[in-house]
Amino acid sequence: MLPILLCPRCRSQGVFSNVRAPRCSNCGLEPHTTIPGVLDLIDVAIGGEPTAANTEQRLMESDLVARIYDRFWRPTFVRMLAGKGAGAAVGGLSGELFIHKHSLALDDRPGPWLDLSCGPGAFVRALAAAAPGALIVGLDISRAMLEVAAQRASGYTNVVLVRGDAHALPFVDSAFGGVNNAGALHAYDDPELVFREVRRVLRPNGVYVGSTFAEAPSLLGRLTARAAGIRRFEPGELRAWLQRIGFADYEDVRLGGAIVFRVRRP
Ligand SMILES: C[S@@+](CC[C@H](N)C(=O)[O-])C[C@H]1O[C@@H](n2cnc3c(N)ncnc32)[C@H](O)[C@@H]1O
Repeated sequence: MLPILLCPRCRSQGVFSNVRAPRCSNCGLEPHTTIPGVLDLIDVAIGGEPTAANTEQRLMESDLVARIYDRFWRPTFVRMLAGKGAGAAVGGLSGELFIHKHSLALDDRPGPWLDLSCGPGAFVRALAAAAPGALIVGLDISRAMLEVAAQRASGYTNVVLVRGDAHALPFVDSAFGGVNNAGALHAYDDPELVFREVRRVLRPNGVYVGSTFAEAPSLLGRLTARAAGIRRFEPGELRAWLQRIGFADYEDVRLGGAIVFRVRRP
């Protein structure tokens, strides 16, 4: 794990030598680990604690939401924002896990794999079980989500959890064979910056699989999205955006108001 870490303060590579007591050998930064089992690479000295981009993100910082997220929160919001058919068509979270694993083609690549904005870690655990020989890194910005993710992934020896910001990933260039990014694009301040970071940390031929919301099919969905400050993406917009940044081979599946897309870094 250590060779792929980047110091979040000086952006130097290969500067951490001990994951239990990490200290940057270039600038002296000692990332504090306030959440058991999570390496915290948010450098509060640079910009303080990150502020939530929207109402949804404020809720993602809540301990209660993190605990009930997979079972209640996620299915309810997917139904509201993407229509009843979206969850039903793929059998809920387990069906989505299947689509993501298949799109990442875990068997064809050695990893490591990044689950970007991993939340409480359902995708991290699914990837860890499906690719037991590969390193799975789960990254999120929310302490509450990571605390739950760390508890639930404690039995997996190939999982490392990192607190970081998707807009400035604390990883070296070409670190990963694939990046999974389920249900989080709509939450970012600046998706363009995140796309560029994903491309940077992917190896040539690495894949980026993400899911997000298109225009909600129902009035309730559109009102919920507006109240929560959630941005929607149309497949054509995503394709053009990702191509401009340098990704190739855009494919997507549309499930009601949800989109699962896959691109490759040439
Ligand atoms: C709707 S949840 C999705 C969680 C999980 N991927 C899933 O599909 O179940 C969105 C996640 O994005 C995370 N997030 C939002 N902004 C982020 C950022 N700037 N950097 C990293 N993670 C972020 C939130 O903390 C939250 O856990």
